[in-house]
Amino acid sequence: MVKLLGISGSLRKQSLNTALLHAGQALELPGVELSVATLHGIPLYDGDLEQASGIPAEVTALKQKILASDGVILATPEYNHGIPGVFKNAIDWLSRPPAEMAALFQNRPFALIGATPSGFGTALSQDAWLSVLHALGTRTWAGGSLLLSRAPQAFDDQGRLTDEPRQNLQKFLQGFAKFAQS
Ligand SMILES: Cc1cc2nc3c(=O)[nH]c(=O)nc-3n(C[C@H](O)[C@H](O)[C@H](O)COP(=O)(O)O)c2cc1C
Repeated sequence: MVKLLGISGSLRKQSLNTALLHAGQALELPGVELSVATLHGIPLYDGDLEQASGIPAEVTALKQKILASDGVILATPEYNHGIPGVFKNAIDWLSRPPAEMAALFQNRPFALIGATPSGFGTALSQDAWLSVLHALGTRTWAGGSLLLSRAPQAFDDQGRLTDEPRQNLQKFLQGFAKFAQS
């Protein structure tokens, strides 16, 4: 069983990116266990807070989930052609303290997906993530891409993905799971 962790970079209840991860879970792919995490409760990174109180409990909990996974999928919204601050903030916390950073990120398989109502499928946000993942030393999967444009139309009333995006997601997850196992 390959254990994948999908982290949604949106806090919204109706988030398209969180919904995309849940649609991946609903596929119940054989040999693939996909868990979904969100970033609720993670405070703004503040070096003074870190010095006074250490790493927040929500960050430590997310670290444990990453450590228990074989691969991580970042489901990223795109804000102003870049990475949403909420998501970058969480990754910045996760990279602290530097002594623990390598165990969490170094050579760990990572992949990017994203959903947006617009026509460009979070391409610019995903591109902006690449230099961040490079800095963290992840083993970033380049074997597939999932850029869900016009995302509200891709889900039916029950939150299920329609045929074509569902097939694309399935192919992506199978490909990444294989990469994470290798
Ligand atoms: C501050 C802000 C900036 C945005 N900028 C972009 C953008 O540059 N490109 C884009 O495709 N969508 C942009 N959007 C629209 C988001 O893609 C949309 O709100 C999306 O639903 C966010 O993801 P979520 O549904 O997972 O919360 C922006 C939204 C906000 C709130």
